[in-house]
This record gives sequence, structure tokens and C-alpha cells, in this order.
Amino acid sequence: MFKIAYKRDQKYHFSPLRYPGGKTCLFPFLGNVIKENKLESVTYVEPFAGGAGAALALLYLEKVDRIVINDFDKAIYSFWKSAIFDSERFIKKIFNVPVNVNEWRKQKAININDVSSCFDLGFSTFYLNRTNISGVLDARPIGGLNQKGKWKIDARFNKVTLAERVRQLSEYKNRITVLNEDGLKLIDDYLNRKNVFMYLDPPYFDKGATLYLNHYQVDDHEALAKKLNENPESFWVLTYDDKPEIKSLYLKRRTVDFSLAYNVREARKGKEIMIMSDILSIKKHG
Ligand SMILES: C[S@@+](CC[C@H](N)C(=O)[O-])C[C@H]1O[C@@H](n2cnc3c(N)ncnc32)[C@H](O)[C@@H]1O
Repeated sequence: MFKIAYKRDQKYHFSPLRYPGGKTCLFPFLGNVIKENKLESVTYVEPFAGGAGAALALLYLEKVDRIVINDFDKAIYSFWKSAIFDSERFIKKIFNVPVNVNEWRKQKAININDVSSCFDLGFSTFYLNRTNISGVLDARPIGGLNQKGKWKIDARFNKVTLAERVRQLSEYKNRITVLNEDGLKLIDDYLNRKNVFMYLDPPYFDKGATLYLNHYQVDDHEALAKKLNENPESFWVLTYDDKPEIKSLYLKRRTVDFSLAYNVREARKGKEIMIMSDILSIKKHG
């Protein structure tokens, strides 16, 4: 069993989004793998980016040259697009928006409206992610609709900290690509390019609560495996929940069990597996 040791350190928490089970904690390990494999001027690609915590840490700590943040969920994509490329407006809105249940209802309506602009959809995604229980987009606000809970709706909405995270994103905008493609397409587009390292964290095989877009079916997991298995000589690392169905898709690849050194409360308790391409040289430490 790989133990990936990592202290839950706010210092490395760069993403403005909260992501239950997010993989920020893997960044030291991924950074070491990139270094060990002597990849230069690396483009680090996450086809299933979500909160993109590991990607941002690798970029800000200068472990990679560029990052590609892709998510098929339009709401998540719109957040990244607006926060990174329309950051001044985004920051103004963070400071001006009220954080209360009334506003929450407005943002919720924007979020489920198909015709919302990219900026409005992106901001509402951020707003709900910061004000909802566990950051889950279709959950209730922290403290409940009556605000009777111990924690209130603004418990995770520190405006100064969040504005600073968005400002930092905008500083790096020339080194970030944001896309809204299906993960498989992204693999086709990027995996065989020179100096690309891909980290894939697809929706879990076992669907838990609806934490994020999760239409991934058995067929999709199989199609992903087919594509990755066809590319054993490219640089990729994949993580999944530890299920025999998944292991059986990657019998020819190296697979290791790993556990994160802290408890992920919400979604991804317990053991996970990491599968890697044949070409990768990997030491057994984080
Ligand atoms: C397990 S989460 C990734 C979490 C991320 N590693 C983090 O640290 O925050 C999976 C992500 O894949 C996205 N997704 C679901 N289906 C997808 C697809 N077909 N192509 C690309 N992204 C997809 C979801 O919206 C979700 O954000």
C-alpha cells in the first residue's frame, strides 16, 4: 500500500472551489513523479479537473509550465473561465454580493437556468459551492434554509481570502487553458503531445451522493480504460475508488493501492487505487 503523506495545509490550498474528496493533496507526489521522469517544460493536463487543486499547486510552485483544466460540467467550466479570464469583475462581485439565504435563492435560480451567461453561471457555481453543505451544488445552504444550524451560510465565504485566490488565478492566466470537453476527447487531443503529463481523476465507479456531474456509466469507464490502455507509453496517472470492476479493466497496467494520510470526510473514504502508464518511473513515496 502506498501511503501518500500530506499534511492538510491551508498554505497549499489555492483553489477557490471546495471539492469533496478533491485531490490537492496529491500534488507533492505528482510533482515528484514529473521530476523523476525528467519531463521538461511540462504541460500538466487534468481531463476531469473539478476543483483543480493539484493543478494549481503544481503551477504556482513552478513544478509545471502550463496547466489544462478541463471539466465537462458546464457550471464548473464556466466558473474557471470567468474567474480566470474575467477576474476583476469576479472579484468585485465577491465583495458586493450579499451572503444570505435570499441571495442564495437567486444564485440557485441562476445556476439551474439554461440561458444564464457564462459569467453568471460561473459565479453562481462558485457562490453555491462556497455556501452549500460540503460544497455540493444541489445541497442546502450551510445552517439550513432557516439558518438555525451552528454554522451559518457565510461560514466558508471569507471574501478577502477568496478574492485573493481569484486574483492569483488571474496572474497565471497566460499559463492556463480552460476547456469544456468530454474527458475522452481531451485524451485524444493531448496525450500524445510532447512533454504532456496527464492526471486523471474521473467520476468514481461507485456513485455516492451527487457531488458533481456523474453520468459516467460502465461503458464510459470501459471506454476510458480502452483509450488509456492504448497509450502505455504516454505519461499518465489515474486514480479511482478501489473496485474489482475497475482493477479488471487495467490488468496489464501497474496498479497500487493508496490511501491519503488524512480522512476525507465526505465522499472518498477509504482506499483508492492508482494506475499508471508503463513508461512512468515511480518511486514508492510521496
Ligand atoms: C472526481 S471529480 C474530480 C475532482 C478533482 N480531482 C479535484 O481534486 O477537485 C470528477 C470531475 O469530472 C467531471 N466530469 C464528469 N464527467 C466528465 C466527462 N465525461 N468528461 C470530463 N469531465 C467530466 C465532473 O464534473 C467532476 O468535476
